[in-house]
Amino acid sequence: MGNGFKWIATVLCVLAFGAGGVTATVAAEGEEIDRHGMENDLPLPTDAAAIENGKERYGARCSYCHTPLGRGGSSSVCLACQKYKWGSKSSAIYATIAAGRPGTKMGAFATSLTQDEMLNIIAYIRTLQEKKIQDDLAAAKQ
Ligand code: HEC
Repeated sequence: MGNGFKWIATVLCVLAFGAGGVTATVAAEGEEIDRHGMENDLPLPTDAAAIENGKERYGARCSYCHTPLGRGGSSSVCLACQKYKWGSKSSAIYATIAAGRPGTKMGAFATSLTQDEMLNIIAYIRTLQEKKIQDDLAAAKQ
């Protein structure tokens, strides 16, 4: 099993457990991982096809400001981080995407993305957060 598959499996696990499972999930190595700010209060899709659609939609509509890994760019917002200005529960992210944040460059997408596409994007953002957690852990070990 390759590393790529492993972290996808971890992410799917995290998504499946939802709010209860995210706060103190034990890593494979036995370390406690802090997943605050990744609480899901909306039913996010967990199947690979939905997350793939979220990745595709994110790539088409979001990454030119937020960068492919969600770690900065012209938005200077880190979507892959766990601390969000406007709230990082899934319902808060949904509100940000659907209605935008007036007075900023973050526009509203409710008329150009379906509800499912927005949920798929949020599920994909969770994988970007998980990837950053794993990358930070790997970097700390070096
Ligand atoms: C034109 C550039 C642009 C595009 C396209 C864009 N954003 Fe943003 N986004 C921003 C900026 C700038 C902010 C910071 C707003 C602020 O100052 O609070 C932001 C903020 C956000 C936030 C809130 C972050 C926080 O800290 O609370 C989320 C979530 C977000 N964007 C998701 C998305 C998603 C998902 C898409 C694609 C559907 C998207 N954005 C497309 C520029 C963009």
